[in-house]
Amino acid sequence: MTTFDTKAFFEPNTFTVTYLISDKQTKQAAIIDAVLDFSAKSGTTSTKSADQIIDYINDNGPKLKWIFESHAHADHLSAAPHLKKALGGQTAIGAEISQVQETFKKIFNLEKEFLVDGSQFDKLLNEGDTLDLGNTSIKVLHTPGHTPACVSYLLEDTIFVGDTLFMPDFGTARADFPGGDAKTLYQSIKKILSLPDHTKIYVGHDYLAPGRDNYAWESTVAQQKAENIHVKEHTSEQEFVEYRTKRDSTLEVPDLILPSVQVNIRAGDLPPQEDNGVSYLKLPINLL
Ligand SMILES: [Fe+2]
Repeated sequence: MTTFDTKAFFEPNTFTVTYLISDKQTKQAAIIDAVLDFSAKSGTTSTKSADQIIDYINDNGPKLKWIFESHAHADHLSAAPHLKKALGGQTAIGAEISQVQETFKKIFNLEKEFLVDGSQFDKLLNEGDTLDLGNTSIKVLHTPGHTPACVSYLLEDTIFVGDTLFMPDFGTARADFPGGDAKTLYQSIKKILSLPDHTKIYVGHDYLAPGRDNYAWESTVAQQKAENIHVKEHTSEQEFVEYRTKRDSTLEVPDLILPSVQVNIRAGDLPPQEDNGVSYLKLPINLL
């Protein structure tokens, strides 16, 4: 028996799984990786997906304490500011977000006032930090590789791994974004797979691997060690790095990487409005 409940919300346009964790006794709650809907064609945002979670919370009584990111996502915009405005709570992300901010401040030639110290977030998380959620304790594991700031959240015998591992039939996350590193990702995956075999693993995306009919996001350490198509229990670092690097060289840049990163390094806020009251995103030419 766990001291907390887990509810998953699947967002089908970006294949993202948002989690709501709530402590059973106190109803204190945390959200991991909420999506702000975005149309790149028209530049419009919508809170439809996030509002489903807000409605669920309002109907069922959890009190939002934490709004977590597993990392600065490259495939969707964060709905953290919208959630915070509607429900309260504190935003948190891995402390290495400062590295990610530094990298992308240069790429996007951001305004000099943009700080690269993570101060846009309420709390920065480091390896081994422990956070309270009522009677449930959340332990932070730094699991970089996909990005430098990736963290996983361990609650009793359940871990939320963001984009480190996917379902065993889909494998692992790419490691070729700026600051990503396949060797580092391997070490982070080993850290996760060193947890007890029965540990439940909740992943941050599901892309419906060929041959499967339903989206899924829950596995175990034992299943991943036995079945993950990229990294099994005895896969060596060298084998993994060779495979991952070769595969990454074939992958296209994600559709929403440019808008996502510009917004997510600001903790989900849009860039400052210009003198006409409109916020703009940049499109760097021939840089990525
Ligand atoms: Fe990601």
